[in-house]
Amino acid sequence: MNKYQEAIESTNIVSKTDVDGIITFVNDEFCKISGYTKKELIGQNHNIVRHPDADASKFKALWDTINAKKIYKDTVKNLAKNGSTFYVNTTVIPILDESEEIKEFIAIRYDVTQEMLYKQQVQDEIAKNKIKQKAMLTQARHASLGQMLANIAHQWRQPLTELNLTVYNMKRSVGDLAKIDEYFSQSKDIIKSMSNTINDFTNFFTPDREVKSFNVCESISEAVKLLDERLGKSMIEITLELEDAQVLGVQNEITQVLVNLLNNSADAFEQKGVLLRQVDIKTKCDDENVHVIVTDNAGGIEKKIIDKIFDPYFTTKHQRSGTGLGLFMSKMICEQGMGGTLGVKSLKSNTTFTIDLPLDLT
Ligand SMILES: Nc1ncnc2c1ncn2[C@@H]1O[C@H](COP(=O)(O)OP(=O)(O)OP(=O)(O)O)[C@@H](O)[C@H]1O
Ligand SMILES: [Mg+2]
Repeated sequence: MNKYQEAIESTNIVSKTDVDGIITFVNDEFCKISGYTKKELIGQNHNIVRHPDADASKFKALWDTINAKKIYKDTVKNLAKNGSTFYVNTTVIPILDESEEIKEFIAIRYDVTQEMLYKQQVQDEIAKNKIKQKAMLTQARHASLGQMLANIAHQWRQPLTELNLTVYNMKRSVGDLAKIDEYFSQSKDIIKSMSNTINDFTNFFTPDREVKSFNVCESISEAVKLLDERLGKSMIEITLELEDAQVLGVQNEITQVLVNLLNNSADAFEQKGVLLRQVDIKTKCDDENVHVIVTDNAGGIEKKIIDKIFDPYFTTKHQRSGTGLGLFMSKMICEQGMGGTLGVKSLKSNTTFTIDLPLDLT
């Protein structure tokens, strides 16, 4: 028994207290870590090493447990005599006498200060990364805002020209009421469609973070509509083969992912000068997931860069036209926002992006 005790005492921090928490015994290790001498400790309340930051509810739990004659285990933050902090993994055991009453408490601890500091460092690092990631997402949003504004400008150019012409015609028709009426209603139609364009984009830009159940196909149609002008101008043919699929998430964000993919395809077509430009968008469901498959024939992605395209700031485009955040943001949305995945495959001159999202089965 003595040998046993020796073994424990030489490797652990050991103390004993009476039923009121007054220290009756400490070993050398306890003195070493706390900075107090045995003389200073014995007779003192054990809370002499209590850290002011330590959670009061923990002490209640400790006393509740040991007074119920049960063993208590926890990692505790303590204060040494010189004001420094140390962490100990603590086991407090109530010792009972013959009549099953608590006689004293024995506490066995070991030093985990290094581990705790290391853990703290890791947590700080994670927190820092989160802040960095948030800044990147903001930057990505600004970049796509710029792209979208350019899209609106494009979508307005043509109707503005038409409107200009119609107003001119109206002026020329002074005296011809029937003609004026016709030009008037033409103008109204053009204005209405311009207003619709603005509505589409406004809807897209409202910072609507509401998580709800929505049909993925609506997001796809929305993205195609928003990019209508750009796709048309680049003579890109879109084929849709859509199976309805309810998912849970922020609808605008999935629209954003598709806008990113379609913009990338359009960029690739223009860069490679492909003649017959084709993008196929398909949705397919199985029992648990919907697979959104977007394939283009814009030349493919080279093997040596395909592992990097989701990295933040990776771009093969001119600084003006790409920040390299589009796919990074898209992956974040699919994986962290929706609990799904976003992957890519490239075969010869085709590129296929696949978004897998869990179905909302409720
Ligand atoms: N459909 C595609 N075909 C060929 N290359 C692609 C395709 N999609 C992405 N890439 C490649 O992946 C890179 C990264 O795409 P990502 O959308 O993240 O950034 P970006 O388009 O360069 O810039 P940003 O989207 O921030 O404006 C692109 O620069 C391009 O080289
Ligand atoms: Mg992009």
